[in-house]
Amino acid sequence: MDALKNILGLQLPTDPRWVNLTEISLEAILTDHAYCEQKAALSCISIIQRYSQKEELVNQLSPIVTEEWGHFRLVLQELRKRNLPLGKQRKDEYVNLLMNKRLQGDSEENRLLDELLVCALIEARSCERFKLLSEGMEEEYMRNFYRRFMESEAGHYALFIELAELYMDKEKVRKRWHFWLQHEVEVMSQLELRGDRIH
Ligand SMILES: [Fe+2]
Ligand SMILES: [Fe+2]
Repeated sequence: MDALKNILGLQLPTDPRWVNLTEISLEAILTDHAYCEQKAALSCISIIQRYSQKEELVNQLSPIVTEEWGHFRLVLQELRKRNLPLGKQRKDEYVNLLMNKRLQGDSEENRLLDELLVCALIEARSCERFKLLSEGMEEEYMRNFYRRFMESEAGHYALFIELAELYMDKEKVRKRWHFWLQHEVEVMSQLELRGDRIH
């Protein structure tokens, strides 16, 4: 799959929160995942609301909202099947630290670029997590479950990059993408220092 190759080509460092899969309970994985899907749907809705005049963006992101909400429902179903509660939303330090660097008071174009690239980064990271889960989980059923998510999030990663390239110069997108990758490395090491993991 091309989108996945791109992600692997970027050589993202492995998220320290997900290195030791055997230490994380299925309940924690599913709860965390359930909220990630909700947040993904919410970010798409929020982008649609703020950039409603951009037709192509609205057209492309509308079905993603449905897809992400569908993902949430699939995860919820797994929790219910196992009599596990949905649980509370964990404070997502990764996303919070990442967002700090978004250009707030800048031009609309630069703000949109950052919104799309942060979404792309989060999708790429989800894809990497799901890849780890699809390879490292005990049950074959769960490995297959996560393989499907991995493929879907890889497609979303590619879509956010494509949307950025639709509205902005490709070279500008590439440069800013590298900025974000660098920033993510810093965020990761901050999280590692704090020992922020999912348990
Ligand atoms: Fe998703
Ligand atoms: Fe996604």
